[in-house]
Amino acid sequence: KKSIRDIDVAGKKVFIRVDYNVPMDKEGNITEGTRIRATLPTLKYLLSQNAAIIIASHLGRPKGEVVPAFSLVPVAKRLSDLLGQEVAVASDCVGSEAEAKAKALQPGQILMLENLRYHKAEEKNDPEFSRQLASLADVAVNDAFGVSHRAHASVEGITKYLPAVAGFLMEKEIMFVGQTVANPTHPFVAIIGGAKVSDKIGVIENLLKKVDTLIIGGGMANTFLAAQGYNIGKSLLEADKVELAKTLIVTAKERGVSLLLPTDVVIADKFAADAQHKAVAVANIDSEWMALDIGPETATVYAKAVETAQTIVWNGPMGVFEMDAFANGTETVAKAVAASKATSIVGGGDSIAALEKVGLADKITHISTGGGASLEFLEGKVLPGIAALADK
Ligand code: 3PG
Repeated sequence: KKSIRDIDVAGKKVFIRVDYNVPMDKEGNITEGTRIRATLPTLKYLLSQNAAIIIASHLGRPKGEVVPAFSLVPVAKRLSDLLGQEVAVASDCVGSEAEAKAKALQPGQILMLENLRYHKAEEKNDPEFSRQLASLADVAVNDAFGVSHRAHASVEGITKYLPAVAGFLMEKEIMFVGQTVANPTHPFVAIIGGAKVSDKIGVIENLLKKVDTLIIGGGMANTFLAAQGYNIGKSLLEADKVELAKTLIVTAKERGVSLLLPTDVVIADKFAADAQHKAVAVANIDSEWMALDIGPETATVYAKAVETAQTIVWNGPMGVFEMDAFANGTETVAKAVAASKATSIVGGGDSIAALEKVGLADKITHISTGGGASLEFLEGKVLPGIAALADK
């Protein structure tokens, strides 16, 4: 794909779509700003090239209504602090105010448009809305990897009205998540966790075609344990996915993929931080208890399996790591991934939070800013926002 490096942006008005869909607390404070920081290289480059920058993003799911809690004003403030320069805001992303402010914008200045999803037209990929957004600028840049799985007006539609290229963050995500998965150095080890198998079926199916070792943990491992015939007590189970889990176990075997499932688990008498808990072999799960983490023996095996990898993909926690009693599995895996010399790619808010908790996020080759977008990329899908960008 063409990037901002391949075109002349000097003196131009650049519409840049970013994914500043960041978590906020009830007072409107940004609780996690990775997605904002991740766009700084692109913004600084555009400023250095003397472009005038018009930033557009969505925040949350206001569904076409003006919901003040989803205003991008706090994000503009944070960005302004990070860049040490003024970031002006237009109170609507289209219309006369946005048009006037975009028109008056000088090279080296930044304007942020208010939440795109205050308009239903954004998610509908309405051509007229795309055209209005496009009319503000001379060129479109997509640095919004996190939303590139959505064929929305500012992501996909706009590329029909303006030359559209990738920003540096987008380029990095395509390189690491896309290319590495398509063309990995072996041994390739994937670690997939999280609560539900149903969220990650496509990812597991695609990775089974690529990896040497597939490690399963988290709530979804229970469904695999049930598929192996174990009594999993009151553990989270997706009963309608047990047959699928059986099929995946067979597929792994046929393909010669080493599929690692828990051999022991930490079980608890209730879902609570102060629950009674103990580690048991998967054959000994009490009928009234529930598994909330992989066991210590399993954690050691998983950490060992990561050691010799050349490529690692990790998405999803191994247990309920927010509660200390059930954090060992995720933290052991986090440390093993961080210690590895492999190209490591981590996605999913929980895995990233776990790495930050153990202070090792900077040891990872690439932390993806995508949630759903990373998963669809790992599924091998073509993302509409990326497909729409100009090729070299
Ligand atoms: C995300 O947070 O994954 C992206 O910003 C996409 O948000 P959406 O799921 O509301 O489209």
